[in-house]
Amino acid sequence: MLSNLKDQPADKILTLMQSFREDPRDEKLDLGVGVYKDASGHTPIMSAVKKAEAWLLESETTKSYTGLAGDPAYAAAMRSLVLADSVAADRVAAIATPGGTGAFRQGVDLIRTASPEATVWVSAPTWPNHLSILKTTGTPFVEYRYFDASTGHVDFDGMIADLDSAKEGDVVLLHGCCHNPTGANLTDDQWRQVADLLLRKKLVPMVDLAYQGFGDGLDADAQGTRILAETQPEMLIGASCSKNFGIYRERTGILFAIGDAAQTKTVQGNLNHLNRQNYSFPPDHGARLVSTILTDDALRAEWQAELEGMRTGMLDLRQQLADELRQRTNSDRFDFIAQHRGMFSRLGVDADKVETMRRDHGVYMVGDSRMNIAGLNADTVPILAAAIAKTCG
Ligand code: LMR
Repeated sequence: MLSNLKDQPADKILTLMQSFREDPRDEKLDLGVGVYKDASGHTPIMSAVKKAEAWLLESETTKSYTGLAGDPAYAAAMRSLVLADSVAADRVAAIATPGGTGAFRQGVDLIRTASPEATVWVSAPTWPNHLSILKTTGTPFVEYRYFDASTGHVDFDGMIADLDSAKEGDVVLLHGCCHNPTGANLTDDQWRQVADLLLRKKLVPMVDLAYQGFGDGLDADAQGTRILAETQPEMLIGASCSKNFGIYRERTGILFAIGDAAQTKTVQGNLNHLNRQNYSFPPDHGARLVSTILTDDALRAEWQAELEGMRTGMLDLRQQLADELRQRTNSDRFDFIAQHRGMFSRLGVDADKVETMRRDHGVYMVGDSRMNIAGLNADTVPILAAAIAKTCG
């Protein structure tokens, strides 16, 4: 049996992580995988998370199974964080999932169950694992225009024109904020135009919200998702706590399915069934940390302040990098870096140049020229700017 197996295509982001670890050079810069790093290059455990863990260690009395959907307190706290009061609670079904990837995978499985003929529309480009999961599950998908490499911004006219040709019942995958890999995002007004188009064409939005709090703030980053929740009859949302709570390895995510209140019980039953089929009960430790923090005023304030520090730190790095590049290239070509939001920006240069920067300067970014801004600090920004200016200027 095992001899029938063929090699699987390597995941570009994870391969890059490995190559960086194996590079013996001291002067190397890891701008690959989307993990936040502080100024000393360390990925810290957030102080509110540490405190919640200490509290849990003392107070938790059992490690018996949770429900199939996970802890209801986690779902309620996350519903409030993501959706606020944009939608009535009785329209929302939810399951805890292993990370945002688990939420996306379960969402795709739900689409396959409910509407196998639906095509999923994905932004060009999107996170490579979206495509890999769609391929693995045999889900039909097509790309819509999204990123204009010549300006570094969203090609909104192209996006709307492409989505206008979707057929009724198709699913449109949208990044809630901090678009991965480009860093280019929709304005609130553009979200409203997308909402109108989805309604008119009877399309179902599926939002991937993996970076809430990393762009313009916790509420601002959820605004597009909430505009859709307010206006659409049906919607899926996969949210991740990996980045905004810094609990990557705890695998903490959630899938929301919003529909008619009369259907919520059936939808919830289907979500529970999906969890049961794929792994039974979802991981609980990270979810319990999140609900502990979100429901305790002091812990929540501490978490928000730390998250805000990470967010504004990334904005400062963006501005510093854009300024350095303006000076070194004597052009405004890279100004978009300061306007992008989230961990990533796509530089918009070809793979040969990315490879040259890796080989000659020890700069590791994904082959499509996505760089993780959170992998920089004030001292390494000039090093990166010099490498970019020399290679691409
Ligand atoms: C990324 O895009 O780098 C992160 O979402 C990590 C991952 O799993 O790919």
